[in-house]
Amino acid sequence: MTGHALVVGGTGMLRGVTLDLAARGWTVSVVARRHGPLAALRQDAASRSGRPDAVNPVPVDYADIGALAAGIRAATTVHGPVELAVCYIHSMAPHAPIVVADMVANRLSSCPYIHIVGSTDPDELRIDANRDELSQMPGLRYRRVILGFVLEGESARWLSDDEIVAGVLESIGNESPEQVIGRVSPWRLHPPL
Ligand SMILES: NC(=O)c1ccc[n+]([C@@H]2O[C@H](COP(=O)([O-])OP(=O)(O)OC[C@H]3O[C@@H](n4cnc5c(N)ncnc54)[C@H](OP(=O)(O)O)[C@@H]3O)[C@@H](O)[C@H]2O)c1
Repeated sequence: MTGHALVVGGTGMLRGVTLDLAARGWTVSVVARRHGPLAALRQDAASRSGRPDAVNPVPVDYADIGALAAGIRAATTVHGPVELAVCYIHSMAPHAPIVVADMVANRLSSCPYIHIVGSTDPDELRIDANRDELSQMPGLRYRRVILGFVLEGESARWLSDDEIVAGVLESIGNESPEQVIGRVSPWRLHPPL
């Protein structure tokens, strides 16, 4: 399936996800603040996909929920409804995941929404107001992807960007409601925060 995808935070560790989707024929709207990395990503995606418009930059600060909604609305006006959303949003913008969901929810086709959340204690992961609200939202197929850590013998490390990209792409390809990339338990063994 290809169409219009949205990747929030798609110039950072999800850059490889944006490029993979673009190479597979998706038109990818990418939310990030800085114009330079957005322009570089657009150029890279154009070279790899042969489509100059494979990446549609949406240069907004997602903490400004009015600007975020307007940016996504403008993207859908040009490229059609969002058919896949991948969101990595820092906790300083707690309302942004809901704003994105409101903008992409589609009662006719039910939009897959891959929500990437940072590493935390498994006990805290059980209490997630956004997950509870988004998984009930009509027109959305909510899936949570949790970034964990890797144990290598006696030592622990955080995930690499490549591991995160591979895990997110795997999650896009299946319907599992929850996936952990790496591990979150036993949490006491996590690398220094
Ligand atoms: N469990 C783990 O192992 C784990 C978990 C998290 C992160 N990490 C690693 O840590 C590194 C840094 O992570 P990171 O959290 O800084 O993420 P990142 O994915 O490297 O960067 C954040 C992305 O979100 C965008 N962004 C940030 N704030 C924004 C805002 N207010 N409005 C709109 N877009 C915004 C950034 O672009 P702009 O800055 O241009 O806005 C960028 O595209 C990554 O390389 C990752 O591999 C590892």
